[in-house]
This record gives sequence, structure tokens and C-alpha cells, in this order.
Amino acid sequence: MKVIVVANNKGGVTKTTLARMLCEWYSRQGETRILCVDMDPQCSLSLRLLNMDFDSTSEHGVLPPLHPDYDPEDPADADWDGRSSIADIFYGEPVVPYPTELEHVDIAPGHGARLNEAEYVTVEESKRRVYNQLRQWFALDDVRNAYDIAVVDTPPKKGPLTIAAIRAATHVIIPTEMEQQSVEGLQRMLLLLKRENFARQDGVEARLAAIVPVKYRNVNLHKDFLSLLRGNPQIGNKIPAHKIPHSIKVAETDVPGAVPPSILDIRGPVGQEAQSICRYITQQVFDDDKT
Ligand SMILES: Nc1ncnc2c1ncn2[C@@H]1O[C@H](COP(=O)(O)OP(=O)(O)OP(=O)(O)O)[C@@H](O)[C@H]1O
Ligand SMILES: [Mg+2]
Repeated sequence: MKVIVVANNKGGVTKTTLARMLCEWYSRQGETRILCVDMDPQCSLSLRLLNMDFDSTSEHGVLPPLHPDYDPEDPADADWDGRSSIADIFYGEPVVPYPTELEHVDIAPGHGARLNEAEYVTVEESKRRVYNQLRQWFALDDVRNAYDIAVVDTPPKKGPLTIAAIRAATHVIIPTEMEQQSVEGLQRMLLLLKRENFARQDGVEARLAAIVPVKYRNVNLHKDFLSLLRGNPQIGNKIPAHKIPHSIKVAETDVPGAVPPSILDIRGPVGQEAQSICRYITQQVFDDDKT
């Protein structure tokens, strides 16, 4: 199973938008079975793909709805409250992914309060309770055999949840704006990836699949940063020839009932660039098998 993690500790650089775009892309590829995983307590990806519930008594009030397979009358479900989220891996509980409206795509949604709680632990406890959990969950036969690709969205931090995601990754995608602060975020993510790869005991590295230029405008600042990064011998070859343009049409796809609902279907350059980036990422992820 390929595990594609979208990460950047900088906020708002379109991690969730790209994670969703990839799920939509792979959904359209037919045979592939996709699991979308939301590690962000904001639950932005879950909110796009599932009718989440809200707990108004909690500041992190987003939580998964009752699972369609939950039957309160069934004695087998007696110990289950009917909700399941990826946060359950941190509490030793099973995770039951939900179907989504996208064909072939299931989601292990976030749970605002429980994901937040998983990060409120000491460093020592994180190492024991959080860092390795996602990797171990993906290694379970039930999960490994059920899906071909997992797409993981992460919070805008380098905290335990992001580390757990990077530790589980076969491939990492880092979206970045072509602006100073985002590029600083990119540099920090690259260091984190390097450190995590160094610490991997099996010697199999998480591969950097792509650094995706996002919210791109044809202004000197963006052009200059793009050529600077392309000219960098360490990472230049990880930047696709395409970039996601800045467009309000992308933000509109977040609105329930939006037409078109997917960035891939936006007419003109935005949709075309989005599709080209999906092809580039797919090539990066699956060409590894041939080498
Ligand atoms: N190409 C684009 N042009 C304009 N707006 C965009 C584009 N892509 C995403 N957006 C908007 O930018 C905002 C941030 O995007 P998104 O939520 O995907 O970022 P993020 O990195 O996941 O944020 P966070 O760090 O909070 O998790 C959203 O409102 C989204 O609709
Ligand atoms: Mg996000």
C-alpha cells in the first residue's frame, strides 16, 4: 500500500485541498481502493468528504457521525458508541472507515477533541503513544489488504500527529506558496523528513514525491521563488512543471453543493494544472516500483 502524506507546518498552504484533489483523482482511476485519513484536529478534509457532527460543548467540537454499520440493537456493537475516527489508534481502539460519496474512497475521519488530546502529552509519552501508531495501523492485515493507496492530511504543525504521519509515509508531498514564509515552512519540513528518514530502522525511506507550487500568480515574487527552488540541486527535480494557480474557483469548491465540486473539473488552466500535478505525483509514487 502506498501512503501519501501531504504535509507542511505552514498553515493555509492548501494541504487539505491537495489531499482532497488526490482522493478525487484516484477515485476516477477506477480500480484503485483509496483510504483518506484526516490527522488534523481541524477536520477540514473530513468536513469535505463526510457529514460530520458537532459537539457545541467542546471548542474542538467536530466529530464523526454515527457509522452506517453501527447497530445499537446488535450485541456485537454494545461496547461501541457508533463513531469511529483515526484518533482511536491512539487509544488502542479499532478504526472503522466510512464510505464517502466518491467511488472507491473511504475515510478514517478526524475527531477534533480526541486528536487534540493525543497531542497534549509529554514528549516521552508521544514517543510511546503517538509517533508509531499510524504506521502500525497501516501494517494491520485488515487495512493493508483493503486499500491500495492512503492519502493522509496533516495539521499545520510539526507536532506528534505530523510526525506520526511522516513515520507512516511511503511518499510525502509538500505544497508551498512561492513566498518567504511558506518556503521557510518547506525548509523545516525537509529537515523533519530528513531526520525521520535517518531514524527509520528498516532503512526504507519516505520519498519526497513532490513539492507543489500552490496559489501561484504571475508576479515577480512568485516567479523568483519558483526559479530559486527549481535551481536548487537538492530539490529542483521534485518540483513539477505545473503549479496550482491562485483562483477563487478553488476556494469555491469547499462550499457544500459547489459546481463544479472538484478542482479537477474547473475549466481552463486551474483544472488542467491540477490534473497534470496528479499525473506527476502518480508517476513519482508508482515509478518507484520500477526502479
Ligand atoms: N489555488 C487556490 N487559490 C485560492 N484559494 C485556494 C487555493 N487552494 C486553496 N485555497 C483556499 O485556501 C484556504 C486554505 O486551503 P487549505 O485548507 O487546503 O490549506 P491547508 O494547508 O490545509 O490549511 P491548514 O494549515 O489550516 O490545514 C482555503 O480556504 C482554500 O479554499
Ligand atoms: Mg488543512
